[in-house]
Amino acid sequence: MKIVLFGKNGQLGWEFQRILPIFGEVISLERTELDLSDLQAIQKILSELKPNLIINASAYTEVDLAEKETDLAMKINGLAPGLMAEISRKLNAALIHYSTDYVFDGRKNAPYTESDQANPLNVYGQSKLMGEENIKQAGDAYLILRTSWVYSLRGNSFVNKVLKW
Ligand SMILES: NC(=O)c1ccc[n+]([C@@H]2O[C@H](COP(=O)([O-])OP(=O)(O)OC[C@H]3O[C@@H](n4cnc5c(N)ncnc54)[C@H](OP(=O)(O)O)[C@@H]3O)[C@@H](O)[C@H]2O)c1
Repeated sequence: MKIVLFGKNGQLGWEFQRILPIFGEVISLERTELDLSDLQAIQKILSELKPNLIINASAYTEVDLAEKETDLAMKINGLAPGLMAEISRKLNAALIHYSTDYVFDGRKNAPYTESDQANPLNVYGQSKLMGEENIKQAGDAYLILRTSWVYSLRGNSFVNKVLKW
């Protein structure tokens, strides 16, 4: 199995990079090898590599900055995942993508389910919801995982921030 992993230096991507070789040939990409705001580059690299599985562990995760860099956030979190799904479908491959609880407004007084109405309150949430919708529209075999916290000791993580405080 040939696997392409996007975001190999992020919290999630780093862990994926460590465990994926058990499952097959892994091509892990970071920003210097592929800038996800370059949609043509995504198209080119995936068409050349022809993976069986695409794992998108990358994202524009600067929640506050996204209010200013709206176009960039929408491109990376909204358009790029949709394109990955479209290419994945054409290659008869599968896509694993991560989304967030920020697609909800948090006003429900009970645990959320998959079918609950999304209502993002900020640009980051809107961009991640756009990514979900584009994947659903363009994709075939895909998995979208909505998580609320990613914990690790890498980078600007929640754990490292608390330790610093
Ligand atoms: N962190 C959380 O608590 C949390 C909560 C809910 C959902 N999520 C979701 O879970 C997933 C993984 O999050 P994470 O915490 O692992 O994220 P992260 O540590 O911020 O990693 C994001 C990765 O995306 C890469 N990236 C960003 N912009 C890029 C670009 N233009 N071109 C290429 N690569 C780019 C980053 O590259 P650089 O290393 O070069 O910056 C980094 O490797 C994301 O979809 C996120 O939305 C995270």
